[in-house]
Amino acid sequence: MNLQDIIKTAGILVADDKGLLAMDESNDTCNSRFAEFGIPQTQDYRRSYREMIITTPGLGESISGVILYDETIRQQMKDDTPFVKAITDAGIIPGIKVDTGAKDMAGHQGEKITEGLDGLRDRLHEYFLMGARFAKWRAVLTVGYGKPSRGCIEANANTLARYAALCQEAGLVPIVEPEVLMDGSQTIEQCFEVTEEVLRTVFNQLYRQRVTIEGLLLKPNMVLPGLTCPKQESVDEVADVTIECLLRAVPAAVPGIVFLSGGQSGELASARLNAMNVRFKSHLPWALSFSFARAIQQQAMEIWNGKESNQQAAQQALLNRVRCNRAARKGKYNETMEKTQI
Ligand code: 13P
Repeated sequence: MNLQDIIKTAGILVADDKGLLAMDESNDTCNSRFAEFGIPQTQDYRRSYREMIITTPGLGESISGVILYDETIRQQMKDDTPFVKAITDAGIIPGIKVDTGAKDMAGHQGEKITEGLDGLRDRLHEYFLMGARFAKWRAVLTVGYGKPSRGCIEANANTLARYAALCQEAGLVPIVEPEVLMDGSQTIEQCFEVTEEVLRTVFNQLYRQRVTIEGLLLKPNMVLPGLTCPKQESVDEVADVTIECLLRAVPAAVPGIVFLSGGQSGELASARLNAMNVRFKSHLPWALSFSFARAIQQQAMEIWNGKESNQQAAQQALLNRVRCNRAARKGKYNETMEKTQI
């Protein structure tokens, strides 16, 4: 392991106001998103869809890294170029989702524990040889009566930390993703409290497992009211509360925070990231960036709809979305960018 290379890669992933594009949906998740738009749920449609994304002209101007899934990292383009080569040639760093999914947690009804540590050392080694330079592992925490439990928070934090240690041993930057879900009627204050506790526990475990903090990226949720909470705070209020929470719980040595979108619309995710950078960028210890899946892909997938004839229009929508997010990193996003091609 060369720690300096890992730290350098982590820095590159958040440099130049670029961000990450998560296209690491498992086959089941990708299929269920396809089903919403009536797209056939086959391996070849998943392959074509991913090819459409990575061949978007100019993608590398706003995107520093893409997160792939095991099926995708092994696939080729129509002309037989491996996806990893096409991505690297576009100046983008390939990454890989390595958890095997969130499963029901024994003794903790309604809570999940993410699995995938068995055999992980060998899988990481293989992914590194295939060209991946960073990885992702997602833990999910549900907010509700008595939830998340301390047992669920601790188990997921320990698992995230063991994953991160193995990544650094294998030469990969770990993206550590503890997601407090938006589902539910919880207030923004409750989300704050849970997110703070989760992040403090995660960083304590990262320390215990001897993970180098300078060589990882944190992928948290924004601090938000639950989807069915009657009180929905403004964009600026969300920005203030999210930053207050992160400043309390995330060490200054972390090079970058790359938010997940979690089901927010593309526009709202950009507006909230923008507000955080407008209000706080100059006095934050870490870069504040994005690693969105749905908030980048949703509209492009709908336009593409499984048809090659729609490819150009879908790529334009994707490009517009990533440019909006790059602008949000600079605090220069505004709503008019949604209507015009930037
Ligand atoms: P969303 O941006 O759609 O929440 O996905 C991010 C991600 O990588 C989830 O693991």
